[in-house]
Amino acid sequence: MTILEAIRKRYSCRAYQNKSIEPEKLEQIFEAARLAPSAKNLQDWRFVVVTDKEKKRKLAEAANNQKFIENASVIIVACSNSKDVMRCGQAIGPIDIAIALEHIALQAAELGLATCWIGSFYPEKVRPIVGIPEDIDIIELMALGHPADSQKEPKREPMNKMLCYEKWQF
Ligand SMILES: Cc1cc2nc3c(=O)[nH]c(=O)nc-3n(C[C@H](O)[C@H](O)[C@H](O)COP(=O)(O)O)c2cc1C
Repeated sequence: MTILEAIRKRYSCRAYQNKSIEPEKLEQIFEAARLAPSAKNLQDWRFVVVTDKEKKRKLAEAANNQKFIENASVIIVACSNSKDVMRCGQAIGPIDIAIALEHIALQAAELGLATCWIGSFYPEKVRPIVGIPEDIDIIELMALGHPADSQKEPKREPMNKMLCYEKWQF
């Protein structure tokens, strides 16, 4: 599978089979994250992999009651221990986590698994469920598992709405 094929295969999966993920596949998925680029190569990402049924139920509740995520084999709690800001003024933590999580999503797609980014959650409700210290930022959650739904045609804007050359032409 080419990278573009994996990108086309990825979609936000909101229904999962009750089936665990083989450890070799999880290892490949997190190897994809480990190899992601990061600002100053800080690699300040920390991932907590949650498979426990009761914890997943609580995480779904903390994610604004998005019930579907408790059925995912795994919920990844993606955290950063970086408070660094780049010279450009942007925070390093969320950017590095976003890159690593998309590596995860694409590697999962290549392996026939599915994911869903979860940004709608309350960090202070998530924190005690998995014991995340106060000084660590909880950036994003991601559901990961065997899909029980099927991909729909992605809704995307045409290229000319996002891209121009040489100067701002929007
Ligand atoms: C940062 C981020 C946060 C998101 N949070 C949620 C979420 O909390 N719940 C959800 O169901 N989907 C969430 N999504 C998925 C988006 O709705 C989805 O990516 C978008 O509609 C495009 O659809 P596709 O991923 O199937 O191509 C999130 C996506 C991103 C990138």
